[in-house]
Amino acid sequence: MKRIVISTGGGDAPGLNAVIYSVVKASLFRDWEVYGSRSGYRGLLDPDELVRLTADKVEDITATGGTILGSTNKGNPFAMPVENLAGEVQIRDVSERVMKNFTRMGFSCHIAVGGDGSLEIAHRFATERGMPVIGVPKTIDNDLEATQMTFGFDTAVSTATEAIDKLHSTAKSHDRVMVVEVMGRDSGWIALSSGISGGADVILLPEIPFTIESICRKISENELHGKQYAIIVVAEGACALEGERIHRDQARSEIGRQELLLGGIGEWVADRIRTCANKDTRAMVLGHLQRGGSPTTFDRLLALRFGAAAVRMAEQEQFDQMVALVNGEMAAVPLAEAIKQRKKVPLDSDKILTAREIGICLGDNP
Ligand code: F6P
Repeated sequence: MKRIVISTGGGDAPGLNAVIYSVVKASLFRDWEVYGSRSGYRGLLDPDELVRLTADKVEDITATGGTILGSTNKGNPFAMPVENLAGEVQIRDVSERVMKNFTRMGFSCHIAVGGDGSLEIAHRFATERGMPVIGVPKTIDNDLEATQMTFGFDTAVSTATEAIDKLHSTAKSHDRVMVVEVMGRDSGWIALSSGISGGADVILLPEIPFTIESICRKISENELHGKQYAIIVVAEGACALEGERIHRDQARSEIGRQELLLGGIGEWVADRIRTCANKDTRAMVLGHLQRGGSPTTFDRLLALRFGAAAVRMAEQEQFDQMVALVNGEMAAVPLAEAIKQRKKVPLDSDKILTAREIGICLGDNP
């Protein structure tokens, strides 16, 4: 009989609860016990924050957004902010405590569900502390190299597409330019997929530096063809050819590393279009709406498959590996591979070609 522990770390993504459900059911199928660690590693730091996951605890959670275990992007046990008696915050390595609790609880495997930051921590636990760890890839950004898809992405794209669809009628009524800023960090997957599906005129990606002139040219072309409005989808990490990435002031401590909190490029683009194209222009930020709500059927199924595959990997003791979607099937890939670099949109991919061939401007001047 095995006893496993599951945690969810980093930003949430629709489908996390489906993974938890699947891990619990596939473990119970083998007569194993499952515990959930609340808020990333908090349960492994303080056993009062561990919760025994029985069938009744996960009943009906597959279709729900968020995570029943909670998540955090500030809980890296290798660099944990801890307040001392004088009230000063110091960064401490508490990973040994995590490992002691893991052993004391008799756990034989940790299933860590997370993005690149959380998976990097999981890999450190495997290599530096000898923890038997299996990773499950999660992020709406779809920027993990070793898997074809992460769950959460399809839901985020559906939400963004629905929003873009709705903007068409109001933009058209007012002869306006509407700029929609979507998430994705340094990768343009969400912007490209939702922009193509939502019939955007312009899509700006982190992978392709843009010029305001090329956007304004597209707006003028629209007008020549009698279309007085335009929809522009801009990824939060997009950047002008001679500009800098726009971010909010504070840096956030993403689990495992310092990250800039992106945001503001939509308003920046809208400001310049107002001047350059002399058009009434509005910007909106779709923000965390993209992380919320019920997972789509695709994300649910992928998350359920990931969860069951992770338990099969635990059975076969395939540790320090991550479950991945490879050629449409479940595969085990080394965690070290999975966290090496972030997946960008290839400039020769069929989605880029499709966008160009159906008349979408990508902000450059090809
Ligand atoms: O990585 C997921 C993501 O939603 C990014 O797309 C976005 O840049 C970031 O997280 C937002 O993080 P936070 O929830 O800390 O605002």
